[in-house]
Amino acid sequence: MKTIRMKRFIDLADFSREQVLDLLRLAQALQDKPQPHALVNKVLGLVFFNPSLRTLASFQAAMARLGGSSFVITPGQGTWQLETQPHAIMKGAAAEHIREGIPALASYCDVLGVRAFADGKSLEGDLNESLFRMIEELCEKPLVNMESAMNHPCQALADWRTLDELQVPMRAKFVLSWAYHPKALPLAVPSATVHMAAMRGMDVVVLRPEGYALPEQVMEKARLAARNSGGSVSETSDRYTALTGASVLYAKEWGTTTYYGDSEADSKLRADLSDWCVREPWFQGTLPDAKLMHCLPVRRNVAVAEEILDGPRAVVKRQAFNRLPVQMAVLHRMLA
Ligand code: CP
Repeated sequence: MKTIRMKRFIDLADFSREQVLDLLRLAQALQDKPQPHALVNKVLGLVFFNPSLRTLASFQAAMARLGGSSFVITPGQGTWQLETQPHAIMKGAAAEHIREGIPALASYCDVLGVRAFADGKSLEGDLNESLFRMIEELCEKPLVNMESAMNHPCQALADWRTLDELQVPMRAKFVLSWAYHPKALPLAVPSATVHMAAMRGMDVVVLRPEGYALPEQVMEKARLAARNSGGSVSETSDRYTALTGASVLYAKEWGTTTYYGDSEADSKLRADLSDWCVREPWFQGTLPDAKLMHCLPVRRNVAVAEEILDGPRAVVKRQAFNRLPVQMAVLHRMLA
């Protein structure tokens, strides 16, 4: 396969399965044989509209390990607050619009990474990735999605690598389960995860309570990926049926889609769902050595019990570590 220089890393769906496998091979190669001078004199700009621990640290570490450098902007914290609304009359706190801010930042670096979560008000707007599309238009340099409204491709790539390392068979049963959280969280990780597992060729089951079905657009995208890879995608609210025979339970918290953007309705809906905290009995029908995945951060004893997080099933630390080699591969493909 011809290796092409990558200009964008926005969505795993933009790549063929073979291209994803090629990135994963490169991640392994860079781990086995480090290239500390591959990106000398290259600069990575990182813009975080939302908080992070792993994404921030792993991108800076990835760039440093390849010989490059990076700068970090958290708008409004030591820098001007950036307005993101199109056609805004800027009488509020933001002193600058991304229409000027993003091109300025892109001009200082060789690749720009941006984290900009969903605003959580309009499902249609978030599904259309309206903010990230605007950022794409404004950025002439290579661009990395560090989590947008509906996607988290870096996490998905790291999770694919984790599944490979664990030698989870391609056709194994992979359950993406809703988990409790005191408030509604975005759909980016569950959307990226269901697609990643389907693209890997797994038998994917989305387990969620009523009111928390993933949007049809997300499920259809995953079904298409499954058709191309030989996997399958289904959904249920029956925990036992979902988990019977599963190799992997991937827990994630997300907000209601039935009342998207209505935090009061979401609070009422989730009030009785605090038992959706993953505990050992959840694994009664799974394969004996079934694993627990979560992208982190996770609330202990709220989304996942500590007996699981501290036990042999949890592979969350490996998932977090794998952000480093896969992002090194992405940066290498963009800049080396
Ligand atoms: N999983 C993940 O993206 O972690 P952070 O939000 O800490 O970056």
